[in-house]
Formats: sequence, C-alpha cells, structure tokens
Amino acid sequence: MLKKLLIGSTILLSLQFNWAQQTQKQLDQIIKEWAAPNEFPDHVILSAAVDPSQSIGVNWRTHANNTEGYLEIGIAGPGPDFRNDIKTYPADRTLINSAEASKDGFESSFFEVQLDGLKPNTLYAYRVGNDHFKSEWHQFSTASDQSTPLSFLYVGDAQNYILELWSRVIRNAYKKAPNADFFIHAGDLINTAHDESEWNEWFAAGGFIHSEIPAIAVPGNHEYRGLNANRPRDKRELSIQWNAQFGFPKNGPQELLKTCYYVDYPNLRVIALNSNRAIELQSQWLKKVLQENDKKWTVVTFHHPIFSASTGRDNPELRKHWKPLFDQYNVDLALQGHDHTYARGAIYENPILVNKNDQNKTVKGPVYVVSVSGGKMYSVNESGWDEFGAVQEKNGERKQLFQHISIDGDQLIYRSFTATGELFDRFELLKQNGKNQYID
Ligand SMILES: [Fe+2]
Repeated sequence: MLKKLLIGSTILLSLQFNWAQQTQKQLDQIIKEWAAPNEFPDHVILSAAVDPSQSIGVNWRTHANNTEGYLEIGIAGPGPDFRNDIKTYPADRTLINSAEASKDGFESSFFEVQLDGLKPNTLYAYRVGNDHFKSEWHQFSTASDQSTPLSFLYVGDAQNYILELWSRVIRNAYKKAPNADFFIHAGDLINTAHDESEWNEWFAAGGFIHSEIPAIAVPGNHEYRGLNANRPRDKRELSIQWNAQFGFPKNGPQELLKTCYYVDYPNLRVIALNSNRAIELQSQWLKKVLQENDKKWTVVTFHHPIFSASTGRDNPELRKHWKPLFDQYNVDLALQGHDHTYARGAIYENPILVNKNDQNKTVKGPVYVVSVSGGKMYSVNESGWDEFGAVQEKNGERKQLFQHISIDGDQLIYRSFTATGELFDRFELLKQNGKNQYID
C-alpha cells in the first residue's frame, strides 16, 4: 500500500514538474517573441553628437531581412506640410546576431545615421525606416550655438525591473523636464549585457523619450559579459548591441569607441568615461580633453564611483588616475552609478574652516553624486569618504531617483527627484573667480 502511494506521488510530482517546465518554456517563448525585431523600426534613439547645435546620431533596429534603411528629416511645422521639404539620408547597417550570447538572441539589423549640418536651436521632425515600413515622425531640437541656459537629466542604474519599475522614473523625468537638452545614463542600463529582452524593456520603458531627447550613456559592469550565454563570466565583452544601437561620438581612444567620448555645448563639456576598461589609458586622453577645454562648465560621467556609497565597494584605480585630473582642471560634477544607493558630497577647499552644515562653501574639484533609478537597492554606507577628505552631505537608500540639472551663466542648479516626483536633494554651484561656491 505504502509502495503504491509513493509511486503515485512520484508520478504526480513528476507531472507537476513537467507542467511547470512546460509553462516556463512557453513563458520564455512569449517573452522572446515580444523582444524580437520585426519589419517595423523599433529601438529608435537619439545620441548626442560632438556638436549638438548642428549634429546628432539616430539609431534603430529591424529584423535582419531589412538590409537597407534611411532617415527622412525636415524642419518641423505646425501642420503636415513640413513633409513637402524633407531630406533623405541613407543609414549604415550593422548585422548583429545575439543568439549565442543571449537566451533571447536574434539576428537583427541595426541602422545608424549621423546627421550633420543642422541649424542650431531648431525644431526638426524625422522618421526612420524603408520604403515599406517607417516610424512615426519624431521631433527634437538642436542645441543653441550661444551660451544660453540649458538643462539635462541624469539617472544611475536602471538595470533591474526595467520595464516594471524603471519606466516610472524615466517617464516622470520627462514630465519634469520635457525640454531637457540631453539625458545621461551612468551605466548598467540593463543587467545582462547581450540580452535582447532586457534591451527591449529599456526601450519600451523609455518609449518615445529615447527618440526625442538625445542620450549620453556609458557602459557599467553589467554591460560586459562573455559572448557565450552559457559561460557569461568568460572573457567579458561589451554588450553586442552597444555600438550598433547607439550613435555616440567616436572622439575617444580607438579601443573604447562609443564608450569614452565628449560632447560640447557652448558653455558645457560633458565627458563620458568607461570605468570598466583601460583606466590609465583613458587618463591620458582625459588630461588632453580637459587641458583643451575652454567651456565654463565641465561634467564627467562614468559608472563606478570615486567614493563608494554602499558597503564593500571601492575603486582605488579611478581615484588614483582620474580624481587628480578632475581636481587639477576644475571639473564641476561627477555623475556616477553602480552602488544602488544615493550619495552626494564634495571636498571643501578649506576643510578645517568649513562646517558640513554651512550654507556656503568653496569646493575643490567636482561635486560627486551616486544615484540609482532601477528597482535593485543596496544599503547606504557613509564611510570611505572622510579618509580622502570628502564630505558626504546627503545620502539615501531604497529610493528610485532621477536628477535634473540646469545651467544658466555662472549658476548651476541640481535637483534630485524620487520616482513619484518629489524633491529629494538640491544644491547650487555658483562660479566666482573660477571657483565653485557650493550652496546647499
Ligand atoms: Fe554596476
């Protein structure tokens, strides 16, 4: 009797297991189909170019059968007649097969157009595709070529629960600053470098925001994985989609193209660094880029923080090679990610004379920020700043955040908001005789 019962329950368990396996397989298949490219252009994204007053990068994806694509663009008008005066630009196509590198891998065509010769401070309409299938008309404004006020958005790691939770952050950011000049993503945009379903989540969460506000992004450690999905820790390589789906400037070191570069607005240089690779080599490039820089404001962005904000993390190589250059060339802001917490602070010029709670302080080097926008959270750690003379003024944990930074003449206003749109942190920098007064 007992034997019969045991056999019966084993069969039942095995049936349940098979059913669960079958269901998981079906679910995986549905997700894969959802993430697959098709005839219609998707993943349409603008990338900031070296001179955003006259150029911009546009990228998109379709299934691999499309071998040709193009972009149409005209100056946007109040009605449909702007379409009577448009120009067409053929796209460069890159065929990417991510099937081996990702469980949700495909053969896809990625297209890129680098637009040049645009008019400054002008609203353009563009669409992408081919003779049969085209996107909707998207609109974007080129930057001014004058030192007019500008503003931008910045987020830390989206990485996990991207469509589920990061969507509300990027959408709230857009609501807060629909006219932002660009959008910084400080690495770990997704969790599994080559995974098409995660990239599809990132593009679905941002939707048309990606197509209308140019991005400046750097890769984090999660954008590096082995090219065989079964051996992800072997010989980590940059996300197979990165160079094909983003049109970032190619003005960085040859071996770090599109992951290390700079972008120039009339009053601001934004320097994007790759904190995963060739740190020392980048410092030579960074020194030159900072030396030649004649902009009033300088912002650097990279993934791994100079001063860590969660337990058990430290990046001494970055502190050794990059921080002295930030100090020497008066970088104003360092925007970072990786730690899944929030921290903001700086080094004061006269630390002995200054109290953390003083409202006015002169800072030496950048104000450092670590922030997170996705759903994965760690605990904040206040240590690790003091020993280098840095003061952590504000921190937080378990909050999904986005930041809006505006620059007007000698004044920079920084504000951090939660996913529900409430103000979480704020400070100002005021330039006086080449030094930054730090007001919080
Ligand atoms: Fe990271």
